Amino acid sequence: MCGIIGYTGEKSGLDIVLQGLEALEYRGYDSAGLAVIENGEGKVFKQVGRVAGLRQVVNGQELAAHLAIGHTRWATHGRVTIQNAHPQVNSEQTIFVVHNGIIENFGELRDKLVANGYTFISETDTEVVPNLIDFYLKQLDSFKAAFEAALNDIHGAYSIVAISAHDPETLYAARLSSPLVIGVGENENFLASDPSAIIEHTKKVIYLEDYDVAVITKSDVKIHNLKQNTTPEPKVELIDYDNEEALLGDFPNFMFKEITETPAAIRSASLGRALADKNLVKLGGLESVIGQLKYIDRIVIVAMGTSYYAGLVGEYLIEELAGIPVEVQLASEFNYRNEPFSRSTALLAISQSGETADTIAALKKVEDYGVLRLGIVNAVGSTIARMTDAGVYCHAGPEKAVASTKAFIAQVTVLMLIALNLSKGRSKRFKPLLEELDVLPAKAQAILDQVENIKNIAEKYADYRDFLFIGRHNSFPAALEGALKLKEISYMHAEGYAAGEMKHGPLAMIDENFPTFAIATNSPLLDKTLSNIQEIRARKGPVVALATEGNESIKELCDDVIYIPNTEPETQPILQVIAMQLFAYYIAMKRGYDVDRPRNLAKSVTVE
Ligand code: M6R
Repeated sequence: MCGIIGYTGEKSGLDIVLQGLEALEYRGYDSAGLAVIENGEGKVFKQVGRVAGLRQVVNGQELAAHLAIGHTRWATHGRVTIQNAHPQVNSEQTIFVVHNGIIENFGELRDKLVANGYTFISETDTEVVPNLIDFYLKQLDSFKAAFEAALNDIHGAYSIVAISAHDPETLYAARLSSPLVIGVGENENFLASDPSAIIEHTKKVIYLEDYDVAVITKSDVKIHNLKQNTTPEPKVELIDYDNEEALLGDFPNFMFKEITETPAAIRSASLGRALADKNLVKLGGLESVIGQLKYIDRIVIVAMGTSYYAGLVGEYLIEELAGIPVEVQLASEFNYRNEPFSRSTALLAISQSGETADTIAALKKVEDYGVLRLGIVNAVGSTIARMTDAGVYCHAGPEKAVASTKAFIAQVTVLMLIALNLSKGRSKRFKPLLEELDVLPAKAQAILDQVENIKNIAEKYADYRDFLFIGRHNSFPAALEGALKLKEISYMHAEGYAAGEMKHGPLAMIDENFPTFAIATNSPLLDKTLSNIQEIRARKGPVVALATEGNESIKELCDDVIYIPNTEPETQPILQVIAMQLFAYYIAMKRGYDVDRPRNLAKSVTVE
């Protein structure tokens, strides 16, 4: 979603901000803009569409400005127009603001400001911020005091960065429920909503906490926490982020690159944790809460989208391997339910970005319950990683394509490790699964080695309007994920169903124009799924089956078959989903879509 970058130092603020905006592109956005302060005057440049377009608008400008802010906007309040792009400016054109999040009481604030003579030209909630700062600046003695007074009036979630034409060195920043990180350099400092925007310049960062207000010059960072009225000493941390991994290299797009990284994702998620030779699962991230874990008799998993589907696979794993009841909820639903929640229940949040607003809200909801809050997160240092009591990182590396691929694979791998860890070695499946994890990357690679075949099959189905995905047991959440992948990048209507549900409704949709992707890999339930396939074929529905290598007879029953290597029942969803990611990818490519940036979607969903 929206991205923020800010710079104060001795270099060209313009260049650094443009570069930072390019690094933030993967988050999804529909317009971009920046502001610089030069010779006591602010200059704003904005463009609808890509940052490349903004570069063209700026091109040829000789600007030596050392203070700059930039923003990529994913429209929430107001259409995608130049007026609505950020930075937003006060009526007098002296205060420049970029903002992520939502200002819930902006209507009320706007009315108050209009009554005081302010004019508004955008449809955004953000435009109230520079005007509100201006309003207080006329009454108070410093920009900082005016900034804080404005923040006190604002309700909602935000990360805000403001600069003033009268102060060519200072970035003013504030955070509440929306991430903001300061990058610490030599005679320069940076601000960003996401470390990827500044990683090229520094790995030293200070994460702002909720209610923090930061005043940043090239040589100094001061923080004031508005809620506690304290001035916390800025805590500089080193981030572990491999920028090389985030580059496209020779790949046609990030989605394909990230699918090819799935074998590595399984390996990295298990490295040093799944110790088959010692018959041990070692999860350093959970060691601090081992005592509390002993008393956990129920786990509620909260997540959204693909991470939610990983959670559904995890439900089978934890219940069957560790014998602990699990309930998986969409965080957006969990947040508005009044369910009984005992202290022996642990909340487990799963998130690739670690910044999903609904999932963060779920963790906040139970803050006062005194329950254990755990996380499975990919983005190191993200909000969820920092707000949970303990957790396990996915170590999948940066994921840039909006459609999550390698992160899902890593999440399920980690869930399996957690399930084994919680089983405390009692499960008979302990040894076979640890041994299987050792060979699973090679099996994942074997699927990638048959991309040509998957591509040929996928392309045959690229012109259909609808698709049904079916599976049973732990292949059911895999079917849900297969359908999500297809719909988000190919805009084809796709639904995931438990195969056993077919006769209870979905079968009515089946005819020669409605194909089914049936997960029919080896399992004690295979015969039942084969019966479902028969019923679909009897109604002329085309069927693509996902089967286990060696099952030749299934070819008689289906139009097309994609094979995956034989694996343990618990690890099947991992291999199934890799095949379905490729299937969706090739359909979307054949339909001519931008797979990395599907329309209307953002990588990090930082508002509800
Ligand atoms: O960063 P998170 O894992 O918390 O994100 C959750 C969903 O927004 C995300 O998985 C989304 O569904 C993906 N676009 C799916 O590919």
